[in-house]
Formats: sequence, C-alpha cells, structure tokens
Amino acid sequence: MSAISGSAPGKVILCGEHAVVYGQPAIALPVFDIQTRCVVLARPGDPKGTVLINDHAIDLKSDLASLSPDHPIRKTITLVLAALSMEHMPACEIQIYSSIPIGGGLGSSASVPVALCRAVSAFTGHPLDDDAVNEIAFEIERLHHKTPSGIDNSVITYGRPVFFTKNHPLEWLEVPTELLFLIANSGIKGSTAKAVLQIKENWLTDPVRYESIFSDIGAISIAMRESLRSGNHSEIGKLMVANHHLLQKLNVSTDKLDTLIETANQAGAYGAKMSGGGLGGNIIAFIPQDKEETITQELITVGAKNVIVTRLSTREVN
Ligand code: MEV
Repeated sequence: MSAISGSAPGKVILCGEHAVVYGQPAIALPVFDIQTRCVVLARPGDPKGTVLINDHAIDLKSDLASLSPDHPIRKTITLVLAALSMEHMPACEIQIYSSIPIGGGLGSSASVPVALCRAVSAFTGHPLDDDAVNEIAFEIERLHHKTPSGIDNSVITYGRPVFFTKNHPLEWLEVPTELLFLIANSGIKGSTAKAVLQIKENWLTDPVRYESIFSDIGAISIAMRESLRSGNHSEIGKLMVANHHLLQKLNVSTDKLDTLIETANQAGAYGAKMSGGGLGGNIIAFIPQDKEETITQELITVGAKNVIVTRLSTREVN
C-alpha cells in the first residue's frame, strides 16, 4: 500500500508578537528542527469517504466523521476538499506525528494543518500550492484564536524568515550569516488564545497606553530587519531584550520565562526573549557559537524542561 506524506516546520517569533495583531510588523523564523509529518495510507477496501485519523501528538484515534465540523483536523480536510472541488476523500487512514510541543508558542497549531493539507491534497493526486495551503492554515488559525495576524501560518507554509505586516505582501528576509538560537521550554503550557484575548481586553480599556507599546514593538521589528541584514549580532540581542521588556508590560510573560531569559542573558547570550503568545511556552536566546553548551547547561539548571538548538541561515532555506 503506498503512503503519501506531507510535512511542515515549527517557528519562533524573533520580535513583534501581539503587536502584529494590531498592524505592527513582526519577524518570524521557521524552525526545521521541530516538525509535523502527516502520512496518508489508502484503504481501498473501505467505503468511499471513510477516513481514519490517528494523531499521535494528542493521542486522538477517531473516524473523521465523528469529529465536530469545527475540529481543526476535520475542518482542514473539508477546506482541502472544497479547494479541490471534491466531495469525498478516497478511503484512507491519516497518521499525524509532531515533535512541536503543544502550547509552546512554536507553531504547532499552524504546522499541523499545513502538513495535513500537503499530505491530503497530494494523496488525492492534486497537491495544493503553498498559497492555497497558507489560506487554509490561516482559516484554521482563526479557529484557535479569533484574530490571528497570519504570521504563524505564513512562516510555516513558506518555510522562510519573514518580515510580516498584516494585510501587506509578505517580505522575505535575507540573513547573510548563520545565526545560532536556543529555544528553551519553561515546562508551563502557554495559551495564545488566552493571551491575545487578555491583551484585547486591556487595549479596549486603555487604547492609548497599549497602542504606544504596540508601536514601540513595531519600531523594534523595523530596527531588527536592519540588524539581521547587516549581521549586527549585539544589536539583534539588544533588540530582543527591549522587545521582552515591552512584552512584560503587556503582561504576557511569566516568572519562569523571565528567569530563563535572565539566565541566558547572564550566561552570555546576545539577547533573549519569550516567543509566541506567552503565558508559558518557550523563550529564544540568540547566542555566540562558542556558548552553546554553557548556556544550555545554565538553562537546564534553572529548570528549562527542554532546550532545542537551531541554526538559521537563508542559504539553507532558499
Ligand atoms: C503567535 O505566534 C503570535 C501572536 O502575535 C498571535 C498572532 O500574530 O496571530 C501572539
């Protein structure tokens, strides 16, 4: 029996999360060291339209038809079929594997639909292109939290560092030198939906204060684009630190995230910040090549649950 697969990376937000929902620019980087992989296997003996789902990441084993129409997996497949003007899936079984932690701010909610769209559409013999996949993944992001900016689905679909402004054309970033990052898990699940809602409520109460924070964050993203282009490592680090202070003002950091960031900075990182929705999840630290081991060790000593080392270079992803 032939198997068709599709995959998608995770992501980190280098700067600009939350403010990006309010129209400010942000920068996101794909992380290929963590991935989602979907495998579709034909079941020619089963009635047409029978689709069995086995999502190993969330321990879900179910018939697709038994999931609610708004379940992200069912909705993704419905949108793929609509895009292909097909009524039914050929009978099959779909296996979903992901090494992207859920609630980690590393893009699991966008990575699964991207990998699923790729695998399912290829299985029907009509692989969707990246633009169509991106549109579907954006719809799924809306199910998770009502007002996604679109940055997560974009960086994950196209797998390239992106300077992203809502409702503007995507701007790909060239990163001339290889950059080394550590991604450290606080061990506490974050919730992007909760964080986005909390900020919205606060913004409605005090729009002037919140818009001023958003625009300071937007200015950091603009400066970061220049520092990445010129390979100014210490400036990239300083901008990350400044961005984290503004995220603290938005009340989406936690004591544990702050401890990890402080530790990375003191152990010699160029800079560190929380990444993604916050209220838990992961931090990213931008570090010199020779500090990988010491900083990783320090992070684990203060309680990081897991540390991922990732290298970014546009030479790899172009
Ligand atoms: C989540 O990775 C980034 C947020 O800015 C939400 C969004 O842009 O949709 C928190």
